[in-house]
Amino acid sequence: MTTAITVRELTKSYGDLRAVDGVSFDVAEGEVLAILGPNGAGKTTTVEILEGHRSRDGGEVSVLGTDPDHGGPRFRNRIGVVLQAAGVDRELSTREALELYGAAYSSQRPIDELIELVELTDKADDRIVSLSGGQRRRVDLALGLIGNPELIFLDEPTTGFDPRARRRSWDVISNLTSLGSTIVLTTHYLDEAEYLADRVAVMAKGRIVADGTPNELRMSVESDTKIAFDLPRLDEPLVGLLEPLTGQGRGRGRRVEILTPAPTADLAHVTSWAMLRGIELEGLTVESADLEDVYLSLVGEHEDLEDTEVSTDTEVSTATEGVRADG
Ligand SMILES: Nc1ncnc2c1ncn2[C@@H]1O[C@H](COP(=O)(O)OP(=O)(O)O)[C@@H](O)[C@H]1O
Ligand SMILES: [Mg+2]
Repeated sequence: MTTAITVRELTKSYGDLRAVDGVSFDVAEGEVLAILGPNGAGKTTTVEILEGHRSRDGGEVSVLGTDPDHGGPRFRNRIGVVLQAAGVDRELSTREALELYGAAYSSQRPIDELIELVELTDKADDRIVSLSGGQRRRVDLALGLIGNPELIFLDEPTTGFDPRARRRSWDVISNLTSLGSTIVLTTHYLDEAEYLADRVAVMAKGRIVADGTPNELRMSVESDTKIAFDLPRLDEPLVGLLEPLTGQGRGRGRRVEILTPAPTADLAHVTSWAMLRGIELEGLTVESADLEDVYLSLVGEHEDLEDTEVSTDTEVSTATEGVRADG
C-alpha cells in the first residue's frame, strides 16, 4: 500500500507550551485516519503542519511525497482543507463561493455534483449567511473538495452540531470515503471517530497515547472492568483508597470510577476500605469497560490531575467533571 503521509517525531511549541510533543504516525493512501482527543490536545496544530499552514519545530513530515513546509502551489493543488474556522464570504451563495474558490485549482470537481454530495441542492443559491450552522459546515466541506483533492483534511467537521446534523455530515463524509479519497479528520467525539475512521490515533497533551483500528482499540481493553460508586462525602482523603489499586481511578464529582484488569482484588480493596470507614458505596456497579471508558482513561491520564483525576494526593472534591467524549 502506498503511504500518503509519514510523520516522525513531530514537535511544535508555542512559547513554553509543547503543543505537539513527538508525534509519529502514517496514513496509507485511501485510508481515513481520525485524530481523536480533547480540546488542546494538539490536533489542529498537527493537521495544520501537515497542510503547510504552520511551521514545525522538529521532526520529519512527508505529505504526498512532499515536505509541506516547502509545498508551494503544486502541493496545495493536491490537498483539500476544511479548517476549524473557515473564512468564506457569507454574502455569497454556495454556488458562487464554489465558483470563486474553484478558480484557484487546476482541476475542479463539477459544482453541481459537489453540491449534491454535501446535500445542499435546495440551498445552492441562498446566501451562506442564511444557512444553518450544519449547512454552513457542509459548505466548508464542499469548498475543501472543489479542487478534486487526493488528500482531504477535516478539522472538527461536526463540532457544535445537533445529533441530526452530525448524522447528516457523517453520511456526506462517508460518501467521500467511498470515492477513495485519503482523509485525515480531527474530532473530540469518540463515536464519530469510530463511525468514520479506518484507524484512530488518540491524542492527549501533544502525544499519541493509542493508535489502532476501532476494533483493535476495543480488543485491547476488552478484559478491563469498571468499578464505579458514589462517595457519600467529598472530604474523604482518597490516598488509602487509590494507592494500592492495580487499576486506575478517576473522579467525576462524587462518582469514582476505577478501570482495572484485576477486578476481584480491586473490588475487595475498595469494599474493605469503605467498611473500615463505615461508608456505604452508593450506586456500586461492576461492569465491563467500554471503549468510551478506555478513551476517557487514556485521555485523563494525560490531563492535569487537578482538572480531571482523582489523584492519590487530592480529594474527590477537587476533581471536576472528567473529560467527556461529548463535551
Ligand atoms: N497560535 C497559538 N499560539 C499559542 N498557543 C497556541 C496556538 N495555537 C494553539 N495553541 C495552544 O496549543 C495547544 C494545542 O492547541 P490545538 O492544536 O489547537 O489543539 P486542539 O486542536 O486539539 O484543540 C493548546 O493548549 C492551545 O491553546
Ligand atoms: Mg482544534
